[in-house]
Amino acid sequence: MLLAAKFALPVMIVAIAVPPALVSLLAWSTHPGPEQERWPGRPQLNKVSGVPATPFITSDRIDQLQNGTFKPSSKDIWVATYPKTGTTWTQTIVNHINGFPPLERGQYPFTYCPWPEVSLGLPPLRYSIEEINDFKRWEGPVGGWRCLKSHWHYADHMADAGKRVIYVMRNVLDVATSFYHHSRRFHFVYLDMADVSFDAFFEMLKAGNVDNGDYFDHVASWWAVKDRPNVLF
Ligand SMILES: *[C@@H]1O[C@H](CO)[C@@H](O)[C@H](O)[C@H]1NC(C)=O
Repeated sequence: MLLAAKFALPVMIVAIAVPPALVSLLAWSTHPGPEQERWPGRPQLNKVSGVPATPFITSDRIDQLQNGTFKPSSKDIWVATYPKTGTTWTQTIVNHINGFPPLERGQYPFTYCPWPEVSLGLPPLRYSIEEINDFKRWEGPVGGWRCLKSHWHYADHMADAGKRVIYVMRNVLDVATSFYHHSRRFHFVYLDMADVSFDAFFEMLKAGNVDNGDYFDHVASWWAVKDRPNVLF
């Protein structure tokens, strides 16, 4: 609860008290140029590898993760999840096991466990691939592990032999409620979602027209590898 309160506060301030100019700045800084293919319709999303992605996740970055630009390590632990399924809690647990101190006010779990899919925006949301590749920067004081966050469906750069993945699954009805509030809160990312009704959002979720696409496809992609010794589902 304390953790939830700690993260909810800055987020709510952003949602409620931010002047329109700052909302525009946040929107601008988290959206790609015209070279990025978009997912049609509402909310505003990119189309990356055939999947709807958050506007700050671009095709270039996913290419970099998969084409050898990103340097994986045998000391990587990926926290892989569909959005709103317990990512932040799990990152926090992994950060503590890795020996990092509790977060100070204004810090986020990304401070110790970055999200490599993000190519737009500012730290701690966004880091360059060079910064992510700088293993020493992320290495935990206990055990020497690097924690990485992902909302991507199964992909080899996270889960082939020699890496470790924790995948968290959550009841889709709870995901629906949480994702609805998330979409309204971060309306400057999704655009045109500040006043979406729950019913309208539920239809978007059912159709897979939300970040990272269809919930069931996402779970199924990771379920297929759940018995691998390096995957904790
Ligand atoms: C990897 O992808 C990035 C982004 O599309 C591209 O700029 C880079 O040249 C690619 N590198 C290789 C080795 O293919």
